[in-house]
Order: sequence, then structure tokens, then C-alpha cells
Amino acid sequence: MKHLVAPSILAANFNNLDKEVKLVNNSQADWFHLDVMDGLFVPNISFGIPIVKHINKIAKKPLDVHLMIENPSNYIEKFKNCGADILTVHYEACKHLHRVIENIKKNNMKAGVAINPHTPVNLLKEILKDIDLVCIMSVNPGFGGQSFILQTHEKIKKLAKLKIENNFLIEVDGGVNIDNAKEIIKSGADVLVAGSSVFKSENPESAIDKIKNLS
Ligand code: DX5
Ligand code: ZN
Repeated sequence: MKHLVAPSILAANFNNLDKEVKLVNNSQADWFHLDVMDGLFVPNISFGIPIVKHINKIAKKPLDVHLMIENPSNYIEKFKNCGADILTVHYEACKHLHRVIENIKKNNMKAGVAINPHTPVNLLKEILKDIDLVCIMSVNPGFGGQSFILQTHEKIKKLAKLKIENNFLIEVDGGVNIDNAKEIIKSGADVLVAGSSVFKSENPESAIDKIKNLS
């Protein structure tokens, strides 16, 4: 499968959000990656439902919503209603992960589970058949612009071995850029999230296309 690219809007220029969304529409990006942070699960607050709703009005590609929040189960329906297509919750934030996943799917969204750098992939073993995506955090969540943690390659490879007929996608999130993307794909990533390396570059559209056209 050709890898997918999901630009992270966290690094976009919010003074002209519409322009940034349109730029992603016009690029070869596959999804929009939207990082929702609550200041509790992670030490930062980003944006919430009204912004996701606004982006959904302009976006012509699926919304991949990454919830870095406590008690995500309280917000599943709300994110469905503002346009999320894929809803990813953190393993570390869910006491009853199976129930949360069922609930996401009942609300007609694809279900994703994200794991922090310290969380081993084999903890997901019993739930892999139920989910559509695993988001391997390659930085500690909370901020854009951090460096890719090299140990992530081992995690991607381990998780790729647990795939049964490509039943879930492996997404890698944090510190992805044009220089390390090829190696990340080689390790087994299906979806690359890229924030700073796209939006802080001189030409974000071509930065997206360059990552997409790597083989
Ligand atoms: C980090 C977020 C990432 C972030 C990636 O907590 O989950 O999606 O936006 O940004 P870069 O690509 O700048 O590391
Ligand atoms: Zn993210």
C-alpha cells in the first residue's frame, strides 16, 4: 500500500487558517490531522470542537482527529457531530479502551488508538482486531516541532509483525520530515503525520507532495 500523508494543522498559521486548509486540499495530502489537547493529558492546550467544525466546512479530505485529552469517552459523539472521520484516543487515557472503541465505531467513525513513546506495542495485542489505526507517537505528545525518537523504528517494526491481513493502519506522529520519512515508511508506517516540516517550510504544498512521493 502506498503510504498516506496527514499534515498536522497544529503547526499551521492560525491567522489564516482557511488558507492553510485550502493549501492541504490542493496538495497530495490524504487526510487532515487535527490535534486536540486539553492541558491535562498533555501539558498544552490546542483547539477544540469549534475549530474542528470550521475546518470540516472547508476540508475536502477526511479529518483524522487525535484526542490528547482525559476522559475521551465523554466526547465521542461531539467529535462525530463536528466532522471527525477517524477518531483516535490514547491508550493511556482510557480505563475501558474496548468500550471506547466500540462507541467510536457505533458513531460511524474509524477507531484509532495512540500510544506514547513509553508504551509498548504489545499492550494493544488484544484490541488490534477491533481497531482501524494505531498511532505510534514518535515524540512525547503535547507540542509540535520536537525531534523524532529513534527507538520508534523498533516499535513500528514490532507492530507491523502483529498485522493480520492489513487490518489496521500504522500511523507515526511527531518529528516526521523529508529526511527521515523514507526510513519510517521502510520500518512499516502506513500514515505519516507531519506538522512543522510542512507548515514551517517555505512551500508547504510542495513539502507535502515530496513526502507523499517518496517510495
Ligand atoms: C504532538 C502532535 C503531533 C504534532 C506533530 O503532540 O500529536 O501531531 O502536531 O508535529 P511535528 O510534525 O511538528 O512534530
Ligand atoms: Zn497528533
